[in-house]
Amino acid sequence: MNVKNKVFLITGAATGIGAGITRALVKEGAKNVAALDVNVDAGEALQKELNEQHGANKVLFIKCDVTQNLDSAFDEVMKQFGYIDVVINNAGIMNDAPHIYEKEIAINVKRSVARCRYLHIKEPFRESYRKER
Ligand SMILES: NC(=O)c1ccc[n+]([C@@H]2O[C@H](COP(=O)([O-])OP(=O)(O)OC[C@H]3O[C@@H](n4cnc5c(N)ncnc54)[C@H](O)[C@@H]3O)[C@@H](O)[C@H]2O)c1
Repeated sequence: MNVKNKVFLITGAATGIGAGITRALVKEGAKNVAALDVNVDAGEALQKELNEQHGANKVLFIKCDVTQNLDSAFDEVMKQFGYIDVVINNAGIMNDAPHIYEKEIAINVKRSVARCRYLHIKEPFRESYRKER
């Protein structure tokens, strides 16, 4: 996939695989990457690191718990970048303990994949996308 000049939104972007994808995207010429995560320290550090290397506002870190404020995070990305080409549903936890598994399903499936998909096919995002092309 050619990532050049595309706008990406990625969840769980502050550490691990998400941070690796974010680094790779900016290195390969993505226009902007919105990096959503609950981990503020790591998210802000990644934003600083990549904006110093690739230019101001290349990466926008947004504090976002996908089970709580995904919709407003999408709105913020639209406000900053105007449209979203690609959504990467990466946020996830791996914990099947009896008192955690419902949270695991909420993060990994309900909110991350299902809600991201719903938000991205919503008309405003698509209209903005079309307008830019
Ligand atoms: N590492 C593996 O071998 C592996 C294998 C299969 C699938 N996965 C999946 O790939 C994804 C990334 O894995 P990883 O190894 O980088 O995990 P990781 O734990 O290193 O990183 C996950 C990131 O998601 C963030 N996160 C957790 N809950 C969140 C929430 N509610 N809202 C927003 N962000 C949240 C964390 O803060 C963290 O930055 C996960 O969904 C994981 O289940 C990983």
